[in-house]
Amino acid sequence: MLNLGILISGRGSNMESILKSIKREKIPIKPAVVISNKPDAVGLKIAEKLGINIEIIESKGFKGTRWQYDKKVIATLTKYGVTPRNGLVCLAGFMRIISPEFVKKYKNRILNIHPALLPAFPGLDSQKQALDYGSKYSGCTVHFVDTGMDTGPIIIQSVVKIKENDTEESLSKRILKEEHRIYSKAVDLFARKKIKVSGRRTVIS
Ligand code: GAR
Repeated sequence: MLNLGILISGRGSNMESILKSIKREKIPIKPAVVISNKPDAVGLKIAEKLGINIEIIESKGFKGTRWQYDKKVIATLTKYGVTPRNGLVCLAGFMRIISPEFVKKYKNRILNIHPALLPAFPGLDSQKQALDYGSKYSGCTVHFVDTGMDTGPIIIQSVVKIKENDTEESLSKRILKEEHRIYSKAVDLFARKKIKVSGRRTVIS
């Protein structure tokens, strides 16, 4: 069975939805560990309640390089069996850029969720970016992580219509609902080995 590591920084609602889907839908993957770079992340409490191992690797005040920080993450993932051979890493609101060395070590085994239809509105505050731009539609994207910022091969996207009276909050809420749906779906597809990557494209069987 594959081992899953989830990396969070805050609320952890995508993490929670993935963990609950694994149980409910019997997704063939073992939730091995949740790692947070912030000791006060709300998601840690949720993970604990769900009986998942939690680890904190604080990034604030860390003096080393990005790769030195990531080596600590990799050591922890490895301790729980989330390896480049037998693991899947999900970034779920993990607000750090990961090093190219980490990406290469876990090639096509790291997923990310982004609250926009990539390649539109990468980076931070994507829901606000979509509203400010005047887009009529936005949505969310699950993609493999490569060495760029929100640029890896796309696995699933979901479109959300923007309403005239939408605020950042109301739009984010509707997008989040779709995030939960497609992130769990992508984990399921990965666990069942149904995603093939061919260059920039993914093929779902
Ligand atoms: C989610 O909306 C996720 O898409 C976003 O942070 C939120 C985390 O919420 N991620 C990014 O913006 C990454 N660029 P959660 O902690 O409740 O899952």
